[in-house]
Amino acid sequence: MKIPLSKPYVPKNILATLEKVIGSGVLHGNAGSCVRVEELMEERFGFKHVLLTTSGTHSLELSMMLLDAHEGDEVILPSFTFVSTANAVLRAGLTPVFADIDDKTLDISPDDVTRLITPRTRAIVPVHYAGVACEMGSLLKLANEGGLMVIEDAAHAIGSTYKGRFLGGVGQMGCFSFHGTKNVTCGEGGAFITNDDSLASRAEIIREKGTNRAQFMKGIVDKYTWVDIGSSYVLSEILAAFLEAELNEFDFIQERRKSIYVFYIDHLRPLEKEGLLQLPVIPSYAESNYHLFHIILPSEEIRNKLMAYLRNAGIDTAFHYVPLHTSPFGSRFARGELPVTDRIASCLLRLPLYPELESSKLAYIIENVRGFFGGLI
Ligand SMILES: Cc1ncc(COP(=O)(O)O)c(C=O)c1O
Repeated sequence: MKIPLSKPYVPKNILATLEKVIGSGVLHGNAGSCVRVEELMEERFGFKHVLLTTSGTHSLELSMMLLDAHEGDEVILPSFTFVSTANAVLRAGLTPVFADIDDKTLDISPDDVTRLITPRTRAIVPVHYAGVACEMGSLLKLANEGGLMVIEDAAHAIGSTYKGRFLGGVGQMGCFSFHGTKNVTCGEGGAFITNDDSLASRAEIIREKGTNRAQFMKGIVDKYTWVDIGSSYVLSEILAAFLEAELNEFDFIQERRKSIYVFYIDHLRPLEKEGLLQLPVIPSYAESNYHLFHIILPSEEIRNKLMAYLRNAGIDTAFHYVPLHTSPFGSRFARGELPVTDRIASCLLRLPLYPELESSKLAYIIENVRGFFGGLI
């Protein structure tokens, strides 16, 4: 038996869809599928402006370029995140400030954000870990009081909600990833979200190499030219067509992920009751998209032994993340201890979760997790 940690869902009839795009002769971005996906996301999730991009990383870079900030200004983000969240801050000439996380949701702790706000703070970046919403009410309140922007790193969180509002559209800006490991994918891709018209029109310019090409395409100007600093963040038509096909099967993908997540919870609950592990928590304000399934073990040693045990049984698992404040490059930005981040990062283990994970394989995973603990007792 060989069970991967994740496996991208490939939409039905995708080859015919891609053949059609290739036959159309239009392969560059901002064409038919790109516009349709943007409209579809706007409608389904209630976002005012969606701009597809080449990656979640690039959406984050774009959002940091839109901050009206200067060198030395600070952006607060969790240390428990992917490197892209912090790289985007640095690439805009700003300073990342790492906050601790909540030990239940593994999302940024509003109390720790409060500790870290200084006169130089310009933005807070909540990362909705595993697709579970950060405590956005407290974060938005802090941001309002301090005149700060909230940029959601919603890389994990397409379709998840906070108090009924879709994540990505709760702060001033939001960033999705469509990387091959995400619920909805086109291999590599992303989306930038905002409900603010002026941020959206500048984002269109940055995405198009600093030109007003988007306005030209809409017939607003009669030629296009260089009007601002920019980059090349437009998603190609081939990838946008793949994404469109994925989004058309979004309900099916979500249904499958939810049933696997619920299976894990139901079958691992007895082990949690015995104090052998901690299951993930979804607070009442959040509706998850079941992006990841993780367990937290009592120690790093037990986590590593379980990982090796499952690997021997052909089951892939993974850690998450090496905390940025302890990484070789990120440690220079550390400000004090982040004890919850340190503990969670050394005790967390992700189990396989993808739409095509069959029930026989799920049963096999549970059997092996139980087998491991049986051997320990
Ligand atoms: C929290 C987080 N932010 C940003 C990214 C970057 O997304 P991408 O891989 O699409 O560049 C990831 C990718 O996995 C992520 O997990």
